[in-house]
Amino acid sequence: MNDLQNRIQQLKKEKNAVILAHYYVHDEVQQAADYIGDSFYLSRLAATTEADTIVFCGVSFMGESAKILSPEKTVLMPDETADCPMAHMADIDRIRRLREEYQDLAVVCYINSTAELKCCSDVCVTSSNALKIVKNLPNHNIFFIPDENLGRYVAEQVPEKNFIFNDGCCHVHAAVSPEQVRAAKAAHPAAEFLVHPECRPEVLELADYIGSTSEIINHASASGSSEFIIGTEMGVLYELKEKNPHKTFFAPGSALCCPNMKKITLEKIIHVLETGEGAVEVPEETIDRANAPLNRMLALAAGK
Ligand code: 13P
Ligand code: SF4
Repeated sequence: MNDLQNRIQQLKKEKNAVILAHYYVHDEVQQAADYIGDSFYLSRLAATTEADTIVFCGVSFMGESAKILSPEKTVLMPDETADCPMAHMADIDRIRRLREEYQDLAVVCYINSTAELKCCSDVCVTSSNALKIVKNLPNHNIFFIPDENLGRYVAEQVPEKNFIFNDGCCHVHAAVSPEQVRAAKAAHPAAEFLVHPECRPEVLELADYIGSTSEIINHASASGSSEFIIGTEMGVLYELKEKNPHKTFFAPGSALCCPNMKKITLEKIIHVLETGEGAVEVPEETIDRANAPLNRMLALAAGK
């Protein structure tokens, strides 16, 4: 272990801190973490951890969600400018207008969203539980925010409901084109194409498997295939290679890179642990309102 990793371990003990990291952060940040996972796993951990301090190695909506689920804890973001552009891509006035238009509207909010959007929503979802949760909602009319691609992926599997889509997307996943996927398949004909539902519908059509980051990792690990084309951010390669040292992974076109996730460094983790800077502040009223859709997600995903 190098000096930076040692210093982090020492500070963690001193502060009774836990380090949570999303699969998209740099490899060395994943190495420093106590837990690595997808958005759903990390939000469940944030709601239940015994630690006094959570260092969240991810983007703003993740730290905000952790604070909303565990308001008594200190949540530190190593880089406060690490934000997900898609988290802002929905309009509160449109939500109000649609609620007037459709009496039974459910506003289903992907966890990749600001706390303000969560406050105006009925339930949160992540890519690993969106289908299960939407299927089980009593509402017929669904306004899915902010990701149109994930919304359309869910809608296709729930034809009995009426979906209203929102004009938002992840610029990292939406950049993958069907042409890139076809070229990668031609170059690696034995490879399975595993893809995240934030990609465009015409890319999902070419998939052998569609899932969240951890579902992609689990699928590749359980599969009998030895080659895979990975349609999600390249950070997942760390865990994929750890779990599958003899399997080979390719990207469709150039590797997908989320510039905001990559802002997190070991030095910044040390800095926030030493100084207490980067603490997430969410107004009490926002916590009260945004807590309900997040907790509803946790309950519905657990099948309650
Ligand atoms: P998951 O980890 O839930 O698959 O989310 C992907 C993502 O884009 C997180 O920002
Ligand atoms: Fe946001 Fe996309 Fe980056 Fe995830 S990968 S944090 S959705 S920009």
